[in-house]
Amino acid sequence: MKRLIGLIIAIFFLGGAASAQVSLLCSPGNEWCEQLGPHFKEATGIDLDYVRMSSSEGLARLRAESSNPTFDVWFGGTGDPHLVAFNEGVTEFYKPSNWEELLPGLRNSVGETYIPLYTGAIGFVVNEGLLAEEGIDVPNCWADLTDPQYKGLLAMPNPNTSGTSYTIIATLIQIFGEDVAFDMLKDIHQNIAQYTKSGGAVGLLAGRGDVGVAIQFLHDGVKYTKQGFPVTNIAPCEGTGFEIGGLSLVNNAPHRDDAIAFIEWALTPEAQKIAAELGESFQVQSNMNTPVPPESPDLDSLNLIDYDFEHYGDPAVRNAIVDKWTNEVFPIPR
Ligand code: F6P
Repeated sequence: MKRLIGLIIAIFFLGGAASAQVSLLCSPGNEWCEQLGPHFKEATGIDLDYVRMSSSEGLARLRAESSNPTFDVWFGGTGDPHLVAFNEGVTEFYKPSNWEELLPGLRNSVGETYIPLYTGAIGFVVNEGLLAEEGIDVPNCWADLTDPQYKGLLAMPNPNTSGTSYTIIATLIQIFGEDVAFDMLKDIHQNIAQYTKSGGAVGLLAGRGDVGVAIQFLHDGVKYTKQGFPVTNIAPCEGTGFEIGGLSLVNNAPHRDDAIAFIEWALTPEAQKIAAELGESFQVQSNMNTPVPPESPDLDSLNLIDYDFEHYGDPAVRNAIVDKWTNEVFPIPR
């Protein structure tokens, strides 16, 4: 199988040799994005440039340039915007040659819309020392975050830029229903010290003690713990949502053959191992032969909701939710 993938990559490389170049829109942490180019070049000889953008920002960019795309591949980022991009014809589905090696649970959840790249769950990344100093309880449940004792002590990303944030909001809606979820988001808003542009950034605020609780993917909490920050991961008691991070071929990609060579490479265990080796990204990668880093949150032990990817990846649903948060929650004085 390894040899077959190598052959496919080589064929695409030779086919696209005149314009050996991939332009990547990259949505995970910057350190991972930065290492993709050199590793891909070593494996295939093809050059790769990238621009790092959070998931919602990336979707907006792809939508804006859909009649004249500059990117070839969208790598990573939460799944809902990948599904929106597919539904709007901004991306196309490409079935990789190792499709059967990808975890069946992930493949079956998204169907042939985008390619699953990794998975991970939402939770709280908590600076327990800071909370203890202030005499404040460690939150264990979503409902705890609405308590005024957390005023100025929470951080979460903004859904207009971040896919993590949309996953958080969609999770609350799926657990509590839309009305209760938006009431909770209004109470949480009163406690927020900062909305960040990217989902990964909030853990750093907790790590540095600027806030006590960061709402984000738990695998990002692992990264900050590994970097020596005093944070612990907590999975909310009512259950939590998760992402199936995406990999998509841009429709009318300017360097289509090289883009496909990149997709084929990016789904090999050798490529997928890079994230954890960098000490940067601890998601569970989609290829079942990629080792799961021992530090990765154990998704089987979490109370994961039955996340409705189809519904929350519907462009109209997503637009309505982000608009509602932007118009009804964000402007409330706090
Ligand atoms: O930092 C990695 C990560 O959490 C990914 O797992 C996720 O897909 C991505 O960031 C989301 O980033 P953002 O919230 O900035 O769109």
